[in-house]
Amino acid sequence: MNIKGFNSAIEEIKNHLRFLAASGCRGFDCSKESLNTIESWGSKQTSLPETLESIRKDLGDCRRCGLCDNRRNIVFGEGNHSAKLVFVGEGPGYEEDQSGRPFVGAAGQLLTKIIQAIKLTREQVYICNIIKCRPPENRNPLPDEILACSPFLQRQIAVLKPDFICALGTFAAQTLLKTKEPISRLRGNFHKYKGIMVLPTYHPAYLLRNPDKKRDVWEDMKMLMNEMGS
Ligand code: URA
Repeated sequence: MNIKGFNSAIEEIKNHLRFLAASGCRGFDCSKESLNTIESWGSKQTSLPETLESIRKDLGDCRRCGLCDNRRNIVFGEGNHSAKLVFVGEGPGYEEDQSGRPFVGAAGQLLTKIIQAIKLTREQVYICNIIKCRPPENRNPLPDEILACSPFLQRQIAVLKPDFICALGTFAAQTLLKTKEPISRLRGNFHKYKGIMVLPTYHPAYLLRNPDKKRDVWEDMKMLMNEMGS
């Protein structure tokens, strides 16, 4: 096995152990010391720097949760690999599942307008989701689906190292910030995820159903522009 294959296998093992530990598994040694030991594997001399491409490769034809049964495409994420701003949504809908691209349906068109309103383009930001496969009938993602997919989002963010994350809607905000606070309370303020400024706001799909909330999102976007110095 070459170095790339070795690192890829190590990442797979790490992901699986993180998933088991996060799901409360006590069937193996989950102590902090052991997890720290495992985390350090593959680093230093043996490891090539992680990239979005290597993360996508690790994800492979993912079968880590039941969403793989009905999906057409994995929606990994797209945009600028040096983006200062990352948008994180909930999960793919019908159009995203068909095309394999995030936010390309009606909510996506609104997100594109929001991005333009803050004087950016889709090509300048990075767009991804909490879960990478479409839940049947667009139902809410289940906790075990979020748990299985989260390590990949965490790794994407670690590679991207953005200055800002805009968390779109309840699931993105609550998952990143590890809270149960409602989006109505989280929005309007900056929070922190691993040192990165996170601004939660309403999901564009929610805005399509509740256009009166667009005003709040615009207030959030003005805060974001101000903080980003744009
Ligand atoms: N809604 C989301 O949360 N993400 C998408 O990619 C599309 C719709």
